[in-house]
Amino acid sequence: MTQHSVHESQPSAGWDADRYDSQFGYVSALAGGVVDLLAPLPGETVLDLGCGTGELAATIAARGARVIAVDGDPAMVAAATGRLGSGVLLADGHDFRIDEQVDAVFSNAALHWMTRPAEVVAAVRRALRPGGRFVAEFGGAHNVAGILAAVRAALAELGLTEGARMPWYFPSPGQYATLLEEHGFQVLRMDYFARPTELTDCPRGVADWVVMFGASLIGHVPADRREAVLARINDLAAPTLLRDGRWYADYHRLRFAAVREPAGASDAAAVG
Ligand code: BEZ
Repeated sequence: MTQHSVHESQPSAGWDADRYDSQFGYVSALAGGVVDLLAPLPGETVLDLGCGTGELAATIAARGARVIAVDGDPAMVAAATGRLGSGVLLADGHDFRIDEQVDAVFSNAALHWMTRPAEVVAAVRRALRPGGRFVAEFGGAHNVAGILAAVRAALAELGLTEGARMPWYFPSPGQYATLLEEHGFQVLRMDYFARPTELTDCPRGVADWVVMFGASLIGHVPADRREAVLARINDLAAPTLLRDGRWYADYHRLRFAAVREPAGASDAAAVG
């Protein structure tokens, strides 16, 4: 296992796992659909890639599967280990390796942090047995476009554009299906949908979201200008993302199920 961070765009201090659970609990709470799509079975081994604090890994384990949980952030690994007890590995999603081949790889709200997706898909394929499934949900094209527009505009207005970096990979369904097929997966399902999500536990609205997730976007801002930037982001986001006193994040999800082509499947197809 290599020891780099899956969430490599976050600051070197890493994630605040407690805050992630308390303020952004919806990340796991809204993932029932993708767990159902995975449909874990008793006795299966499932690898949860980018497990975060381990909440969904625990849900999968409760359905009887053995879970190997992987995350690139030490604070998340510590939180997941606290929840699961064992079976949590610190590893980079781009090049993780395990000593066995699993029945399924699962991932929720993590693949968009891994900005070299071909490497990730190759690592997932390597970890799966032939016929094993890859089931995941993550941010697709146009994800959080309203938030990003407000951040960019606020930075531009305040002369602070230099140093900001877009840390995420948000592909279209066609792009991601093609990538999977190029790496020997059969795509069984690829859903793409808008899922505006109320930021119920973020009293400062979009500013709180940016503080939690947007270190690459605003980390370069001098401390004495930070509050001004955050306030301006909220001003600019409000017309589209504040409705009836409630703040929303404009999420767009890709949710898919694919299977690793069984060994020799393409040869069999070639001979008819
Ligand atoms: C998402 O779940 O789509 C997401 C979360 C944090 C940052 C970017 C995207």
